[in-house]
Amino acid sequence: MNCCCNKQPSDLSLLSSVLNEYKDTKGSLITILQKAQDIYGYLPTDVIYHVAEETGNTPAKVMGVATFYTQFRLSPVGKHLIMLCQGTACHVNGSKRIQAAITEELGITDGETTEDGLFSLKCVACLGCCSLSPVMMINEETYGSLTPEKAVDILRELRAKEEVE
Ligand code: FES
Repeated sequence: MNCCCNKQPSDLSLLSSVLNEYKDTKGSLITILQKAQDIYGYLPTDVIYHVAEETGNTPAKVMGVATFYTQFRLSPVGKHLIMLCQGTACHVNGSKRIQAAITEELGITDGETTEDGLFSLKCVACLGCCSLSPVMMINEETYGSLTPEKAVDILRELRAKEEVE
């Protein structure tokens, strides 16, 4: 399918082996979408249409599954995905102030990615380490007992590392 925007079409051949393995297996749509996301980093629209065509589903059905589960992303994420907890303990301990500091530092709000593609911010429910609240996770690493200043320092450190590399 051709895209109407200027985005590069996805290389659908990357998904061939996944589709060959799963497309005829009942109930495998979520598995296919998980593997597609592993390959592309998110679920581009042309991939959704391709999966629909190959699995005999309507694009609306596949899109419905992709939007229902929070594990799926419909737009690309930055190299560093900041998952900022907004669960009760973190909320009580100031997660909104952390969010404001991140937004001021990076110029993005929940669900957005910086223009240079380095950072995405996603506000999430409890990350399971409330005793460290307020908490954020960046690329599997947990940062606890945050203050707005500490959060900004962490982001600046990550950015500085990128500039050295
Ligand atoms: S509420 Fe934030 S880690 Fe539990």
